[in-house]
Amino acid sequence: MENPYLPKIAKIINVKQETPIVKTFTLKLEEEFHFKPGQFVELSVFGVGEAPFGLSSSLYTTDKFEVSVMKAGKLTEALHSKKTGDYVGIRGPYGNGYPVEKWVGKNITIVGGGIGLSPLRSLILYLINEKEKYKNIWLLYGAKTPHDLVYKEELAQWRDSLNVNVSVDVSDENWVGNVGVVTILFDIVKIPPSENISVVCGPPIMMKFVVRNLTKIGFTSENIYLSLERMMKCGIGKCGHCNIGKYYVCQDGPVFTYEQVKDIPSPF
Ligand SMILES: Cc1cc2nc3c(=O)[nH]c(=O)nc-3n(C[C@H](O)[C@H](O)[C@H](O)COP(=O)(O)OP(=O)(O)OC[C@H]3O[C@@H](n4cnc5c(N)ncnc54)[C@H](O)[C@@H]3O)c2cc1C
Ligand code: FES
Repeated sequence: MENPYLPKIAKIINVKQETPIVKTFTLKLEEEFHFKPGQFVELSVFGVGEAPFGLSSSLYTTDKFEVSVMKAGKLTEALHSKKTGDYVGIRGPYGNGYPVEKWVGKNITIVGGGIGLSPLRSLILYLINEKEKYKNIWLLYGAKTPHDLVYKEELAQWRDSLNVNVSVDVSDENWVGNVGVVTILFDIVKIPPSENISVVCGPPIMMKFVVRNLTKIGFTSENIYLSLERMMKCGIGKCGHCNIGKYYVCQDGPVFTYEQVKDIPSPF
């Protein structure tokens, strides 16, 4: 039987500096790589450790894939020191991913905060490709400062297909857009709640306030989808590290409806 803990070797074929503390790594395995938007991989830096990262690239590209990584501690710092041509380990893809087929015919409202746009980018690339299956698509994206916005050039390109709205908590002398936490965008953009699915990913405090706003404007808890983060080890439902309520985030998630988790203490 194949050892599920044994990583496959992936070559780093490109590294892009997105912000002072976020890099996007393009990785290539020997074989093709297939995944669903919203899934994640366990990435290992040899001699350092392993951590989960959401897949941020398009599912239609199968000869390579991307993860965007924010420097947070030991492993992510070690990963940031890697260059094109270096190797890392990959297990996965893991997790459930977004139930995009269930959303056909609906409006979609995507709300991202900071590096939380990473798994949402994979979803956005899918939705752009399958645009005729869905109605209107809104993206509300917030970051701390203009320097902390990820995928800057793509945000501009996505305007051709989606209603893109961006805000920063603190502006600088060159910023001409919205200023304030991402939830201020709910006052600027009128989002109709009917036939509308909301997909949220970002820091816990941001998710809490976004859910509050979505509920206030009439989204039901079944129509709010959240990507949850928990400390993970195995990534495959064996170790129990990522347990919340009756769920393992690695296997039952990381995508949950708010309905599934709203009665769990501190779900975000
Ligand atoms: C399903 C999933 C998908 C993820 N996707 C991404 C992604 O696309 N890009 C990205 O940059 N990060 C992502 N993360 C978070 C990433 O796994 C952590 O930042 C990473 O494990 C930190 O490792 P480290 O050794 O560098 O830092 P550590 O030394 O382990 O930690 C540094 C700090 O971050 C905190 N921390 C570590 N892991 C987590 C976590 N899972 N949730 C909250 N706080 C944490 C620690 O408490 C500590 O304060 C994801 C996490 C999960 C569970
Ligand atoms: S990470 Fe081990 S059970 Fe989820």
